[in-house]
Amino acid sequence: MKLGGISFAEFPSCPLLLCIALALCFNQVSSTTNETDKLTLLAFKAGITIDPFSVLNSWNSSIGFCQWYGVTCGPRHKRVTILDLSSQGLLGSISPHIGNLSFLREMRLDNNSLDHEIPPQVDQLSRLRILLLDNNSLVGEIPKNLSSCLDLFLFAIAHNELSREIPTKIGSLTKLWEFALCENNLTGSVPSFICKLSSLEILALEWNNLGRSIPQVLGHLTNLTFIGLWENRLSSTILSSLFNLSSLIMFQVGFNQIHGTLLAGMGLALPNLENFGVGTNQLEGLIPPSISNCTKLNLLQIHHSRFSRKVPSLENLCNLSLFIIDRNQLGSGKPEDLSFLCSLTNSTKLEGVTIGFNKFGGVLLNAQVIYPPLSKNLL
Ligand SMILES: *[C@@H]1O[C@H](CO)[C@@H](O)[C@H](O)[C@H]1NC(C)=O
Ligand SMILES: *[C@@H]1O[C@H](CO)[C@@H](O)[C@H](O)[C@H]1NC(C)=O
Ligand SMILES: *[C@@H]1O[C@H](CO)[C@@H](O)[C@H](O)[C@H]1NC(C)=O
Ligand SMILES: *[C@@H]1O[C@H](CO)[C@@H](O)[C@H](O)[C@H]1NC(C)=O
Ligand SMILES: *[C@@H]1O[C@H](CO)[C@@H](O)[C@H](O)[C@H]1NC(C)=O
Ligand SMILES: *[C@@H]1O[C@H](CO)[C@@H](O)[C@H](O)[C@H]1NC(C)=O
Ligand SMILES: *[C@@H]1O[C@H](CO)[C@@H](O)[C@H](O)[C@H]1NC(C)=O
Ligand SMILES: *[C@@H]1O[C@H](CO)[C@@H](O)[C@H](O)[C@H]1NC(C)=O
Ligand SMILES: *[C@@H]1O[C@H](CO)[C@@H](O)[C@H](O)[C@H]1NC(C)=O
Ligand SMILES: *[C@@H]1O[C@H](CO)[C@@H](O)[C@H](O)[C@H]1NC(C)=O
Ligand SMILES: *[C@@H]1O[C@H](CO)[C@@H](O)[C@H](O)[C@H]1NC(C)=O
Ligand SMILES: *[C@@H]1O[C@H](CO)[C@@H](O)[C@H](O)[C@H]1NC(C)=O
Repeated sequence: MKLGGISFAEFPSCPLLLCIALALCFNQVSSTTNETDKLTLLAFKAGITIDPFSVLNSWNSSIGFCQWYGVTCGPRHKRVTILDLSSQGLLGSISPHIGNLSFLREMRLDNNSLDHEIPPQVDQLSRLRILLLDNNSLVGEIPKNLSSCLDLFLFAIAHNELSREIPTKIGSLTKLWEFALCENNLTGSVPSFICKLSSLEILALEWNNLGRSIPQVLGHLTNLTFIGLWENRLSSTILSSLFNLSSLIMFQVGFNQIHGTLLAGMGLALPNLENFGVGTNQLEGLIPPSISNCTKLNLLQIHHSRFSRKVPSLENLCNLSLFIIDRNQLGSGKPEDLSFLCSLTNSTKLEGVTIGFNKFGGVLLNAQVIYPPLSKNLL
């Protein structure tokens, strides 16, 4: 018989009374541990001020807390492993007691209206694998000390009102697969410790206030498929190491102050690219002809920069749906400038092309160029 990790076989000579005393003692320990989960959940409930769908009504003593709405317990220890209250319209704050749910693996509280800070006690949740807090009204900073949540692989706190810098301790979360902090008000830079997150596939930092340069070390994260950095204050150039990430599907760095040129061979290195956006920056030079090797491209957004000269043939981009190159210095005032439009005849999914405010010559016959509004949703 094993209780609390100590086997009774280890006390062969223990008198019966002592055994009973020990058993009672261990029993008490185990009943206080699951009582802790119950008290913690009740403390969480107390932090919720509005529960429009009354989902927390079931959180009462008529049933065990493992049956409460949104609560899942582990089969063996009957401890809370999942708290899932996504999209319940909840108003209120996240109780600091949450740190006492020591068996918690998933905290899904996204798409509510939770405000106040993310309690720093989250760092006590050493078994946490999923932390979803997207689309709330959380303020303050990202908990500084997440270094004990070593199993965290999904960390999404997008669309809140978080500020300050991305804490350095994040660098120890080497199992992180998705890191989504977009649509907040984070400042500082894209930290270079991000290169320690070797499992990272999704990096979403768009719509923040991040400055300085895109760290070159990002090029070490060979499993990255999604890089979202648009709408920040990034400057400097796009370093060639970033064009070494052959798994990339999406690369969006538009609406920053990035300058320099695009690497001539980029299209050869990025065979999986579907969504590429560098518009509204200060990039210049040629649109690399190798872009037509990115045959999976769907969205190509290179507007409002300083690109010049000839637009390359796009004949291999049969899945292209949006081609956005307005407001550059493309073309040379000659009729052949628009020959790239002919190369788009096999792009049967094309929905929009914007070419205005360039130096194109030539005549558009029967061609009404479509200007879709460049909304956030297209990115
Ligand atoms: C307590 O929870 C049960 C089970 O979900 C529910 O039927 C009951 O209405 C709840 N009681 C109160 C007072 O909310
Ligand atoms: C608390 O733990 C005891 C002993 O492991 C168990 O019998 C009981 O079902 C648990 N209670 C709840 C509500 O999970
Ligand atoms: C977010 O929650 C609201 C209810 O508060 C719901 O109507 C909406 O569908 C949810 N959105 C998502 C993406 O789940
Ligand atoms: C739970 O956490 C809170 C806040 O972190 C703490 O004050 C309290 O003592 C803890 N309660 C138990 C029963 O562990
Ligand atoms: C975010 O939450 C707001 C209100 O709480 C809701 O209207 C909106 O649909 C949510 N957005 C998403 C993407 O779920
Ligand atoms: C951060 O968490 C670790 C592990 O839980 C702990 O040892 C350390 O003292 C904490 N540091 C701070 C500054 O809270
Ligand atoms: C974002 O942060 C900046 C500087 O810290 C501040 O001036 C600005 O008001 C903040 N914006 C929002 C929407 O919170
Ligand atoms: C990168 O992805 C591959 C394939 O999904 C996987 O086998 C590998 O472990 C990943 N590398 C890291 C460092 O996570
Ligand atoms: C590109 O990747 C290869 C291997 O994946 C690596 O050896 C090389 O240093 C990388 N080049 C740059 C410029 O990062
Ligand atoms: C890149 O595209 C060019 C022109 O379409 C083609 O000749 C070349 O074979 C392609 N290279 C690769 C590696 O696909
Ligand atoms: C184009 O898109 C379709 C459907 O999304 C996909 O099956 C096909 O493989 C894509 N073609 C290329 C060249 O990526
Ligand atoms: C379009 O596709 C057809 C058939 O695959 C091919 O013969 C033709 O050269 C392509 N046209 C362009 C402009 O790429």
